[in-house]
Amino acid sequence: MCGIVAYIGQREAYPIVLKGLKRLEYRGYDSAGVALINNGLQVYKKKGKVAELENHVSGKDMRSHIAIGHTRWATHGEPSDRNSHPHVSGNGKLAMIHNGIIENYAQLKQELLNQGHIFKSDTDTEVLTHFIEEIQKSNHCTLEEALRIALKRVVGAYVIVIVDEDNPDTLIAARKGSPLVIGVGKGEHFLASDASPIVEYTKEVVYVNDYEIAIIKADELILKNISNERQTPYIQKLDIELAAIEKGGYDHFMLKEIFEQPQTIFDSLRGRLDAKNGTLTIGGIREHAEMLSKAKRIIIVACGTSWHAGLVAEYMIEELCRIPVEVEYASEFRYRNPVVGPGDVIIAVSQSGETADTLVAIESAKEKGAIILGVCNVVGSSIARLSDAGAYTHAGPEIGVASTKAFTAQLAVLCLIGLKVAIVKGSITQQRFQHLLDELDHIPEKVAAVLKLNDRIKEIAAKYKDARDFLYLGRGYNFPVALEGALKLKEISYIHAEGYPAAEMKHGPIALVDENLPVVFVATRDSYYEKVVSNIQEIKARKGKVIAVVTEGDQVIPGMADDIIMVPEADELVAPILSVIPLQLLAYHIGVLKGFDVDKPRNLAKSVTVE
Ligand code: F6R
Repeated sequence: MCGIVAYIGQREAYPIVLKGLKRLEYRGYDSAGVALINNGLQVYKKKGKVAELENHVSGKDMRSHIAIGHTRWATHGEPSDRNSHPHVSGNGKLAMIHNGIIENYAQLKQELLNQGHIFKSDTDTEVLTHFIEEIQKSNHCTLEEALRIALKRVVGAYVIVIVDEDNPDTLIAARKGSPLVIGVGKGEHFLASDASPIVEYTKEVVYVNDYEIAIIKADELILKNISNERQTPYIQKLDIELAAIEKGGYDHFMLKEIFEQPQTIFDSLRGRLDAKNGTLTIGGIREHAEMLSKAKRIIIVACGTSWHAGLVAEYMIEELCRIPVEVEYASEFRYRNPVVGPGDVIIAVSQSGETADTLVAIESAKEKGAIILGVCNVVGSSIARLSDAGAYTHAGPEIGVASTKAFTAQLAVLCLIGLKVAIVKGSITQQRFQHLLDELDHIPEKVAAVLKLNDRIKEIAAKYKDARDFLYLGRGYNFPVALEGALKLKEISYIHAEGYPAAEMKHGPIALVDENLPVVFVATRDSYYEKVVSNIQEIKARKGKVIAVVTEGDQVIPGMADDIIMVPEADELVAPILSVIPLQLLAYHIGVLKGFDVDKPRNLAKSVTVE
């Protein structure tokens, strides 16, 4: 989704903003632009990659100590130079970058058209820029005051940053519903939609809150709420290192992140799981564990890969805690007027912590009295802050658009939450609890063993890369893994793939099976194993090609399948953490072999901040 960068200070602003835009490329975008003040307001924007913007400005005088930059992911109006940000006010003095959507922009636009404004783009952002200019003109007020008045009328979510030709030593920013981080340097400030463009300059950051306006000079940061009251900026320390947002010798961020999993899973368990002493501590839910153990039901809301993690958690929590769990697409849950209220527990699962569908779902559930637990990766993100309690996944920054290490960390943390509630509730024996703690404790080394299969998986990828469709099948805990495998393949190889519960296959998808259809079975040894073996036979009887992920030592499936990937043995409750890894690698290699940019797949955004 759109990315925002801005700088004000003693250094040259443009190179900092340009580098920041490159750091934000992973979010997904279709055009880029910058504005700076150098003999008046200068604005440059271009459809396409940041590199095209860079070429476009080459040779121009870009000197300035203030600049804003933007990567746009089209919502209102097609990707084009004229729809790219920054957008400029009618008098040519204000330039604005914006993330989010102004929902009532059509009404505002009509009012402005009636007042004689002329628009050059199809965007809601240009409307807001003109609206602020109009308020400033008719009220004879400062930009800050005009912004405050404007935001009281605006419906929607936004982060905006404005430069004003008449005030070249000040940036003005505001936030509602979309993230904005301000890096505090010595005599300089850095603004961005996430910490990645900031981390190499300063570790001290302020997360702007909803309905706050920031007035930023090189050596001063003033925060005010929408009623013009000063707020104290709360400076936090960033806990990420520059290395975490660089490729570190790998060809792609996606591959790096797949290979980081032994460490990231370990990090998600660290300080929480103590298998030796048989204890489990999750600081973020400590005070809620008792309440959770008494919950009548738990509703998990999420999107995409995080929703798949939620599905695995449904199996885990129901088995361990004997509490009914519902797993909802956040977007559907929010808008179908769900029956939810006091006594309900909602677990919101989100890597970014900024997914708009998940955010609005928990906002409305919270208003109705539900308790919200957040399982997020990005520290300080909107969902984490809105939650009553929760646990971070600690997987580190995930830059590849296709989620990999965040998924396995979510599974690990959701398993810990299930175990904690189960032991408080007494719904699990001490022996099973200890067994699962041991199993989790060994997961990082087993993941490392699976990663050793990379070359073999690459060969399998080469064999099937030209298939038109894929089917992914699994049962029980491995059914959501099949869904996740199919999603990964779709996202980065653009091959049509479907995930199904293996038994459900015979109720329809079996019609697709012929000698050209690769069918990926997630068939590790668990309580569904015998049934899955029958499903494999059903596919083979129809000449389908079977690629099977099985448990080491399996004597049966290797005799039937065309290609086998063996993963270490694990309890079925934690097995998805292992069985998903070959599917991540398979999708990665097929995407690369087909020549696609797997880190930035077409049309996708890393953090989906529009509903
Ligand atoms: C898939 C993927 C998306 C996200 C989804 C939710 O690889 O990345 O499906 O999982 O957009 O994002 P978060 O977890 O940030 O809420």
